[in-house]
Amino acid sequence: MATHKLLLLPGDGIGPEVMGEVKRLIDWLNSAGIARFETDTGLVGGSAYDAHKVSISEGDMAKAKDADAVIFGAVGGPKWDAVPYEVRPEAGLLRLRKDLALFANLRPAVCYPALADASSLKRDAIEGLDIVIVRELTGGVYFGEPKTITDLGNGQKRAIDTQVYDTYEIERIGRVAFELARKRKNKVTSMEKRNVMKSGVLWNEVMTQVHKREYLDVTLEHQLADSGGMMLVKWPKQFDVIVTDNLFGDMLSDIAAMLTGSLGMLPSASLGEVDVKSKKRKALYEPVHGSAPDIAGKGLANPIAMISSFGMALRYSFDMGDLADKVDAAIAAVLASGLRTADIKSEGTTAVSTTQMGEAILKELQKLHA
Ligand code: NAD
Ligand code: IPM
Ligand code: MN
Repeated sequence: MATHKLLLLPGDGIGPEVMGEVKRLIDWLNSAGIARFETDTGLVGGSAYDAHKVSISEGDMAKAKDADAVIFGAVGGPKWDAVPYEVRPEAGLLRLRKDLALFANLRPAVCYPALADASSLKRDAIEGLDIVIVRELTGGVYFGEPKTITDLGNGQKRAIDTQVYDTYEIERIGRVAFELARKRKNKVTSMEKRNVMKSGVLWNEVMTQVHKREYLDVTLEHQLADSGGMMLVKWPKQFDVIVTDNLFGDMLSDIAAMLTGSLGMLPSASLGEVDVKSKKRKALYEPVHGSAPDIAGKGLANPIAMISSFGMALRYSFDMGDLADKVDAAIAAVLASGLRTADIKSEGTTAVSTTQMGEAILKELQKLHA
């Protein structure tokens, strides 16, 4: 059995709490002889700042590069609001994405049957929902230069962020979306703002070309990103795969998260290019949610987004799709049994803590695997 090297980066706030529930799963997989994971743990975000005055140390960056997959919790919080911009907690995550070249961020939004009434939308609109947002993750306004605040000397300052996309960046994220759609409902919706932004014009043009050249069997639709957001809350089931840039993808995926009932439900996988020789790819798995300072340390966090992010690691990094399916089935079964963390609690269901939810999911998984 191959040994897989994992780097766990719990981070801040609820990050360590939800990571604990993934650790529980990993420990069982190892002890039951189902897989062999070798885990190391590092510091990122505010916790790295407190220890070393950086958002991630060079040592932990090296470990991340060496790992078969990085499992990431969440970073940030009011405690670090005043630290210099360069070493703010979020910078650690952005550096991991950029330096590991994790350009493709898959954010699936699936409505578990038991949560069909947990969304702020009507049951009808979200029952059976299964969409994926493919977010470009290493380009756009997040990383474009210049990125500055300049003092104009007249009591005014000027802030500049720069949206930049090259053809190859749009092509490769397009291919990820089209390939994914082929395994699903065969439809891609590309979202940009070509009516305002030059990068939107190029995005639209390149997506159309990639489609024409390589993926005519897949349906491609174009949607302006603002009305795409509207359509996501109006009738989300019209979508299959949505492909969009870094910033629009960030916003649209938080919207998609609420369709599933809570931000605490949405997992994600950040993937690099497949290496031709080793057939391996760099990858980081993290929930879409943040460090949730408002509920941190209270045992209230929903660990499902984190656990299903680990499920995505099993699927995309370790070729254990069957086990990943069982993780999803275990989550569905626990929700069907009526257990709920506070964020998804509704009348007639049973309130549980982060740990109790993690334990219940593991118990179901053990049953499914027996
Ligand atoms: P957030 O996602 O942390 O929280 C938004 C709301 O959702 C809060 O009310 C929170 O309690 C709730 N929530 C989030 N995850 C939950 C979970 N697992 N279970 C139950 N409820 C949950 O977003 P925010 O408040 O805008 O940001 C807080 C900090 O997190 C900021 O510093 C931000 O930069 C950072 N952040 C980090 C990441 C990341 O590390 N990947 C992602 C988003 C935000
Ligand atoms: C996310 C987060 C990050 C982003 C922050 C924490 C850098 O919001 O992963 O969705 O903006 O990409
Ligand atoms: Mn976000």
